[in-house]
Amino acid sequence: MAVIAVVGAQWGDEGKGRIIDYLAQEADVVIRFQGGDNAGHTVINAFGKHALHLIPSGIFNPRTQNIIGSGCVVNPQSLLGEMEALRASGVELENLWVSTRAQLLMPYHRELDGLEEAARGKDTIGTTRRGIGPAYADKAARVGLRMGDLLQPGWLESRLANALRTVSRKIELLGGAPPDGDALYALCLEYREKLGGRIIDTLPMTRRAVQQQKQILLEGQLGVMRDLDWGIYPYVTSSNPTAAYAASGAGLPARLLDRVLGVVKAYSTAVGEGPFPTELHDAEGARLREVGSEFGATTGRPRRCGWFDGVAIGYAAWLNGMTGLAITKLDVLDGFEFLKICVGYQLPDGTVVADSMPDTPVLLQVTPVYEIWEGWRCSTAGCRRWEELPSQARAYLQRISELAGIQIDYVSVGAARDQMFAV
Ligand code: GDP
Ligand code: IMO
Ligand code: MG
Repeated sequence: MAVIAVVGAQWGDEGKGRIIDYLAQEADVVIRFQGGDNAGHTVINAFGKHALHLIPSGIFNPRTQNIIGSGCVVNPQSLLGEMEALRASGVELENLWVSTRAQLLMPYHRELDGLEEAARGKDTIGTTRRGIGPAYADKAARVGLRMGDLLQPGWLESRLANALRTVSRKIELLGGAPPDGDALYALCLEYREKLGGRIIDTLPMTRRAVQQQKQILLEGQLGVMRDLDWGIYPYVTSSNPTAAYAASGAGLPARLLDRVLGVVKAYSTAVGEGPFPTELHDAEGARLREVGSEFGATTGRPRRCGWFDGVAIGYAAWLNGMTGLAITKLDVLDGFEFLKICVGYQLPDGTVVADSMPDTPVLLQVTPVYEIWEGWRCSTAGCRRWEELPSQARAYLQRISELAGIQIDYVSVGAARDQMFAV
């Protein structure tokens, strides 16, 4: 048994949810280690189609304990909505837990996210407006509330009053109305009423699972290119989706990570602003968007689409210490006559870099250097073994593996649970 971190290796939406859903058939514990309801992890299985935002993607297996870890920011309103939708599809939620140490994302965080985005004008980040940035900012500024505070009414009241002293000033500065403290306190009591039993110190559960050598999956949100430290700052999220944070955000010693599975699409997509070197603005990009149904699971925004970025995967593989790749959406490329893989970035001075990631202002000016690969022009949707893939598809995937410097562990050829296989 092992501890496996499952992380996004691109700009997000690589298919982490469907990979976790597949692996969770054998997992004892799944822990979401960062992010909030900005995530949209689409899972299609016997329970139907679900876009999970906060709830770990192992929830469909009643034998798997699902934990929202301390590294997350939790909007109880959206958590409750998600729970309701899952219940309506017949999913049991006895196995869902929230860390007392996870941050509480309040309605004013969402409001602030909208006000701050509006104030940025043309310099917008293109956030999901779910309040993620403001909630992590409050965490770092030590004025955040935590989920466990809901269980301590006296403490909660003083923490809320403390938070509102700074939050009200910020909102007013941006032209909004200060929040009503009494109404927020009442809302917190409602959250406590509905979620209280699930808010626990998750460490003993995690520790026991490790001691009993259980299978543990650590579920990341987004991808390395939106990492707060290593992504395309400032067009990033406000936490660290890379594997190094998985241990901290889940509550495990870092040395216990046995494997790091990097989830990567067979091409590239991004939602939101910021550099995306292989973006296509032509018919080919529109075709990827249409065939791949590339619209955001959280905001419905059309995703920016482009060719596979081999520089980004090398960067992602190294930074995350990936041990294997899960390559998704191969079937989306089925009809293409030829495909391109970016193997270097040409800088404005003419030099080409392949084994480093230029920082944002430079990345905005690079020109991708492409290799051209032959397409396979037949359906891969029914393939369930490596040998069944057309030779051109195998060659294309092998090139991706070479650029990442690691092996391929899984390939998916459709969105349904059974449309993937181990390599
Ligand atoms: P996540 O945020 O990383 O979990 O990824 P999303 O769920 O936001 O985006 C991935 C999208 O691709 C979802 O709509 C999935 O249903 C879909 N998907 C995942 N794997 C495959 C695949 O192999 N083929 C196809 N056609 N769709 C896939
Ligand atoms: P999953 O987990 C794709 C993007 C936003 C924006 C930036 C910051 O489904 O891969 P935020 O709301 O986090 O402050 O926005 O990150 N973004 C995502 N893009 N998939 C997501 O999640 C995303 N979560 C945030 O578009 O550019
Ligand atoms: Mg997503």
